[in-house]
Amino acid sequence: MSDKTSNQMWGGRFAAGPDAIMEAINASIGFDKRLAAQDIAGSRAHAAMLAATGIVDSSDAEAIREGLLTVLSEIEAGDFAFSTALEDIHMNVEARLKETIGEPAGRLHTARSRNDQVATDFRLWVRDQCDAAEGGILALMKALLGQAEAGADWVMPGFTHLQTAQPVTWGHHMMAYVEMFSRDLSRMRDARKRMNESPLGAAALAGTGFPIDRQMTAEALGFDRPMANSLDAVSDRDFALEFLAAASICAMHLSRFAEELVIWSSAQFRFVTLSDRFSTGSSIMPQKKNPDAAELIRAKIGRIFGANVALLMVMKGLPLAYSKDMQEDKEQVFDAADNLMLALAAMEGMVKDMTANVANLEAAAASGFSTATDLADWLVRETGLPFRDAHHVTGALVAMAEKKGCDLSDLSLEEMQSVNGTISEGIFDVLGVHNSVASRTSYGGTAPARVREQVARWKEILG
Ligand code: ARG
Repeated sequence: MSDKTSNQMWGGRFAAGPDAIMEAINASIGFDKRLAAQDIAGSRAHAAMLAATGIVDSSDAEAIREGLLTVLSEIEAGDFAFSTALEDIHMNVEARLKETIGEPAGRLHTARSRNDQVATDFRLWVRDQCDAAEGGILALMKALLGQAEAGADWVMPGFTHLQTAQPVTWGHHMMAYVEMFSRDLSRMRDARKRMNESPLGAAALAGTGFPIDRQMTAEALGFDRPMANSLDAVSDRDFALEFLAAASICAMHLSRFAEELVIWSSAQFRFVTLSDRFSTGSSIMPQKKNPDAAELIRAKIGRIFGANVALLMVMKGLPLAYSKDMQEDKEQVFDAADNLMLALAAMEGMVKDMTANVANLEAAAASGFSTATDLADWLVRETGLPFRDAHHVTGALVAMAEKKGCDLSDLSLEEMQSVNGTISEGIFDVLGVHNSVASRTSYGGTAPARVREQVARWKEILG
C-alpha cells in the first residue's frame, strides 16, 4: 500500500504526497466545481453503458448511478466538502461516491479517463451556454424590435465618421442591431451544432479494449454522435473557442451599442433618456444621471475578447493529445460566459426601458445639412444634371448656407438660382427630413415603409 498521504487515485505509483505549492498550482476544484452536474450526468451515462455492455455488473452500476444522484443532491444543497487535495471535480465526486456506496464506486472509471471525462463535461457545459446565449440574444432582439416598431418613422441623424450624414429613422437604426444580433444568434447555433459530438469513450487518448458502446452514451447525453477520433476527442478545445469567438463578436456588437447609448444620453445629444433602473447618480453632482450599465457593458466586453485570446494562447503550442495546460480552459470560458449573459441582460433592460426624445432626434436630424444628398439627387432627377455636377452645385449651396448661418431650406429660391439657374420651387419638397427618409425606399433603405416591413418580418420569425 502507498503512503496514506499520497493520492488515493494513483497512490500505487507514489510514495509521498505533493508539496503544498504543487497542490495549489495543480488543483482546479476551486473553479471546475461548476461542472458538477455535467460530471455526474456523464458518469451516470457511462455507468449505464458499462452495465448494458456487461462490462460492469448491473447491480454495481445501479448502485453507482443512485450514489451519484446522492452526491449531486449534496452538492446542490451546498452540503459538499470540496477538497483541494482531490484536485478536481472528477476526483471529488468519485471519492465521495466511494464514501457513499463503497466498493462498487471503484468500477465507475473502467474504460474511461479523466481526459475524455473532462472533455465531455466541458462540452456539455459550453453547450448549455450556447443555449443561454441564444435566449439572451433573442430577448434583446425582441426589445429592439419593440423600439423599432414604436419609432419606425421617428427621424434622427444618421452618421458616418460621427458627422451628420443623412437622416435615418429610429426604427431603421434599431433594426440594424436586430440584424447584427441575429447573426450572433446563428453563430451560437452553428457552434452548438458542431460541438454536439461526444468525446466519452475516447478514454485517455487511444480508445479502450473494453467493448464499450459510445453511441449509447452519446445519445444519453443528447449528443448527435460520438467523436470519430479518440485523439481529437480528448485534445481539442475548438468547441470552447468557437463559443468564445461567437461570444466575442456578439460582445463587440453590444459594446458598439453601449457606446452609442453613452453618447446619446449625454447632455450634448439628449437623443435618449435611460431609465432610473439602469442609471446611477453622482455622490457630489446632484444633476448627474450616469449610463453606468452601458459603460460597464462596454468595459466587460474586454474580458470576453481576453478569454478568447487567452485560450488560443493556451492551445497553440500543445502537441496531441491531452496536456495539463488544457485545465486552463475553464476559468476563461466561465468568466466570458457569465459576463456575456450579464451584458445581454443589462442591454435588454436598458433598451426596453429607454425613452427616445423624438423632438431632439428630429431637430438633430435637420441640422448639419443632412439633406444635401437629397438636394443633389433632386438636381439629377429634375434637371438632368450629372451627379458629379449636382454634387458640386449642392456643395456651393451648403457653403452659402453655412456662410449665412442657416439651413439649406432657409435659402430663398433666388439665392439657389444664383448658383444654378435650373433650380425650381419643387426643390423645397426634398429638403425636409421626413421627405428625405420617406424617399429612401430601396430594399434595406431607411424609409418608414421599408422599416415596417422588416419589423413585421422579424416579428413573424421571433414569434
Ligand atoms: N482537471 C483536469 C482538467 O481540467 C482533468 C483532466 C486531468 N487529466 C490528466 N491527465 N491529468 O483538465
